[in-house]
Amino acid sequence: MKGELAAGREPLLDVRAVSAGYGGMPVLRDVALKVYPAEIVALVGSNGAGKTTLLRTLSRVLSCTGGIVMNRHDLVPMTSDQAFAAGLVQVPEGRQLFNRMSVHDNLLMGAFRRHNRAAIAHDLERMYALFPRLSERRRQLAGSMSGGEQQMCAMARGLMAAPILLMIDEMSLGLAPVVIEQLMDVLTRIRDEGVTVLLVEQDVHLALSIADRGYVMETGRIVHSGSAKKLIDDPDVRRAYLGF
Ligand SMILES: Nc1ncnc2c1ncn2[C@@H]1O[C@H](COP(=O)(O)OP(=O)(O)OP(=O)(O)O)[C@@H](O)[C@H]1O
Ligand SMILES: [Mg+2]
Repeated sequence: MKGELAAGREPLLDVRAVSAGYGGMPVLRDVALKVYPAEIVALVGSNGAGKTTLLRTLSRVLSCTGGIVMNRHDLVPMTSDQAFAAGLVQVPEGRQLFNRMSVHDNLLMGAFRRHNRAAIAHDLERMYALFPRLSERRRQLAGSMSGGEQQMCAMARGLMAAPILLMIDEMSLGLAPVVIEQLMDVLTRIRDEGVTVLLVEQDVHLALSIADRGYVMETGRIVHSGSAKKLIDDPDVRRAYLGF
């Protein structure tokens, strides 16, 4: 689903005039953003721009003003548990795995709200097919794995919740290019299977190279948006974020 084609469809996530902050200190100002079904949307911007704050606001960890509608549900009055139950799943910055639990148990934790055991078992095998590295390490403690393996585990745990929208914060941070390539490959595969992804990245080039559309955030505001190709070709974006 490329950006221009998405325009006529109903968005899966519709964020309107959202403002939020910490203890009265404003961070997000009037943020508007749409994500259409089965798109990868990149949210990029420098350190401190407010990307994580936006994800935490969408996850309903932070209170806000404005509108957040996902899959026709109004998320604003929801708690974070309710938003999770509605299908909004965040893979947090720093992964936050259960380090003393096995890979397998971490994945099962992702499915803790689901009850259909056959579907959970099916999805576990799907995760092990998607991430063969995890399959080899089912019994290994999550905390003893490499950074790349931990990111795979965090993504697989998020997918085990059967998300409608998967939000990933700083997927590539600190990882080797070969691992990043594998993770990007997984993202396009799950997108093609119908999972919608909101990807936060400091690596603007990387994010726009995989995304269908993107948003650029500066000091809590969206300053550029459009198809990934349009953003890569935008002289302002190139100068500020791509260095050429
Ligand atoms: N818990 C908090 N309490 C107070 N201020 C915070 C808190 N978390 C973040 N901030 C502030 O909010 C602003 C946006 O931070 P945020 O973490 O959302 O940025 P970011 O775009 O995710 O940056 P990075 O790329 O470094 O992860 C920053 O000025 C930051 O200092
Ligand atoms: Mg952040």
